[in-house]
Amino acid sequence: MIQKTPPLGWNSWNTFGCEVSDQLIRETAEALVSSGLKDAGYTYVVIDDCWAQKERDPVTGRLVPDGKKFPEGIRPLADYVHGLGLKLGIYSCAGEFTCAQYPGSYDYEFVDAEAFAEWGVDFLKYDYCFRPRETPGHLLYKRMGAALANCGRDILFSACSWGADDTKNWIKTTGAHMWRSTGDIWDSWESIKKLAMQQTDLQEYNAPGCFNDMDMLVVGMNGSGHVGLTGCTAEEYRLHFSLWALLASPLIIGCDVRSMTEETRAILSNREALAINQDPAARQPFMINSHADRPIWVRQLDGGDYAIGLFNFLDNESRFHFSIADMGLSRVCDRQLEFRDVWSGETRLVKGFYCETLPAHGFRLFRAKLRSL
Ligand code: GLA
Repeated sequence: MIQKTPPLGWNSWNTFGCEVSDQLIRETAEALVSSGLKDAGYTYVVIDDCWAQKERDPVTGRLVPDGKKFPEGIRPLADYVHGLGLKLGIYSCAGEFTCAQYPGSYDYEFVDAEAFAEWGVDFLKYDYCFRPRETPGHLLYKRMGAALANCGRDILFSACSWGADDTKNWIKTTGAHMWRSTGDIWDSWESIKKLAMQQTDLQEYNAPGCFNDMDMLVVGMNGSGHVGLTGCTAEEYRLHFSLWALLASPLIIGCDVRSMTEETRAILSNREALAINQDPAARQPFMINSHADRPIWVRQLDGGDYAIGLFNFLDNESRFHFSIADMGLSRVCDRQLEFRDVWSGETRLVKGFYCETLPAHGFRLFRAKLRSL
């Protein structure tokens, strides 16, 4: 399995924490279909931590789904999710316990991968809590990578070691298809800003096959749910979504899609932002200025367009300016650019320089096309 573009889906953790169940997953899968999010590309429905019993099966050594939360086990749920045209994800941990202290996969990697394959699982989020000190992180992920590669089913391997222990330097040796390049997200502006600013030096590690995962989206949580803090304004959620999309992060929804507002649905299904995220060339984004707190990111897209994002993390207005020369174009001979704002649909022609003052927490995401002068 080769992951050519960032995975899109939903995960239970941000809103539901340990309150996962068969019913929640079925209803979420149905809501992804009825809301149009499935058609927009969101495919994976991921059960995070707390789905298993506290003890493994004493005979088979297998993880056992919690009988209250998943009375029929995982297989019928996977069948149901597949029947809707979606894929099912599950969670485990490289250590002896998961982060919420359920059994982890350490020393049971092959047993667990075989069970996940038998159950029809398509995605494994693999955490990093309670790891034994004698085995370095890269070996823990190599173990599960090998188990998944030999389990007889295509299972997307989502590594979640939060960038710890220099994950960036070894993660592509493990078979992981995405890797958490951040600590945990919370539903607040400060958290979004912090994670975003940590990405500045990590784009050289971001590539098809294994994408930098900036953590699940908090769009639409509005301060409620497991990681809910202050919540954000709609404009801040749009900035968050735009930045995650432009930096080719997996887009994993974290709000309750069964009850999301129209405003949330519209943010999550912005087709032009999603097209940038899913651009088939999947080139690395590059920053053309040197201010992590007001970055200007550019990405060359398939077919010659550019994606350009300006993000103001400051609490006051800020002036953004750049020359098209900063993007790798000559101002003398090259063409002008037609900038299209992916949120308002407005277009403007840019000849040599771009200049704009953005309000506190303001942003722009453009798709730009080259035009003859
Ligand atoms: C860690 C991960 C989170 C979530 C929890 C579950 O904190 O980073 O995304 O999976 O564990 O316990």
